[in-house]
Amino acid sequence: MHLLDWQDISDKQWTGCIEQALLNSANRRRLEDTHKGKNVGLVFFNDSLRTRVSMELAAASLGAHPVTITPGSGTWGFAWDANKPMLGGEAEHIQEAVGVLSRYVDVLGVRLFASGTDWDKDMQDIMLKQFAAASAVPVLNLESATRHPCQALADAAVLTRHFEGRPKKKKFVLSWAYHPKPLPMAVPHSTLLMAARLGMDVTLARPDGFELDPVVVSAAKEAAKKAGGSVQQTNQLENAADGAEIIYAKAWGGAKRYSDPEAEASMRAQHSNWRITQGVMDRTENGHFMHCLPVRRGVVVDNEVLDGTNSLHLDQAEFRLHAQKAILSWLWDNGASQ
Ligand code: CP
Repeated sequence: MHLLDWQDISDKQWTGCIEQALLNSANRRRLEDTHKGKNVGLVFFNDSLRTRVSMELAAASLGAHPVTITPGSGTWGFAWDANKPMLGGEAEHIQEAVGVLSRYVDVLGVRLFASGTDWDKDMQDIMLKQFAAASAVPVLNLESATRHPCQALADAAVLTRHFEGRPKKKKFVLSWAYHPKPLPMAVPHSTLLMAARLGMDVTLARPDGFELDPVVVSAAKEAAKKAGGSVQQTNQLENAADGAEIIYAKAWGGAKRYSDPEAEASMRAQHSNWRITQGVMDRTENGHFMHCLPVRRGVVVDNEVLDGTNSLHLDQAEFRLHAQKAILSWLWDNGASQ
């Protein structure tokens, strides 16, 4: 069984992983050594600080051995097209690369961002699915075109701890923020689904033209309804902040980047005032700030918010480690046998 997206996983197992991440946070210094002899392959097609370091340390902490691969930098470049003769610069096809790696390791993590050029391919996570189909061992999504399940689990554990086990019905604002680049939608998608599944009252605040994938918004509404929460949308950041308990900021590009990148850049530039300031935070109900990191200071959020006592961003980063341990243990102890 792979972990490509928490939507594929039962509520019981999702809740169990949150609980395990919280237990790991209480036992952070103990080397468990529970998975001695296991090997973890980590394939990073894109840059990372938190995911890479927390995965390597989590594997080592469980007694397993991590191996990190950055394709095209010290390994062969990988080709993806199944039907084209390989006459380009890539020496190895993803089919063999993943096939080989999955003969060496017991879990294969992969980070594979959105192309930004093909909406259907990105939103359906076609490349992640191709990677997973070639693997003989469980594949763990370390952030794909449209989901970041590892971040979502860490954030769910942080929120559960912050609200002392009762995040339900708390007002959670997921706010779009300006960024000079059209970033992918994986984190906002997974964040929306995560907060909805916790039963929070979620407000998705974004300017017109920066809607998330409607399929994800619809799934989040359904998840919130099932969990006793709600999801609503607005194009007004300040009003959304009124009475909020959490402001989770994230930048992402508009869907128009796929059809007309110049128009998208111009639309995005018109919203450079979408930044989390102290003024925004002052409208909340002693609200706390969240961001998955990396974050651009003075662009996405002001220093006084990030450096203030109500910012949870470093807790989120810390919980990446506790969450990765929970995920690896779950994949090996339960998921891999299904
Ligand atoms: N939040 C997150 O995934 O960080 P990295 O991109 O540094 O791994």
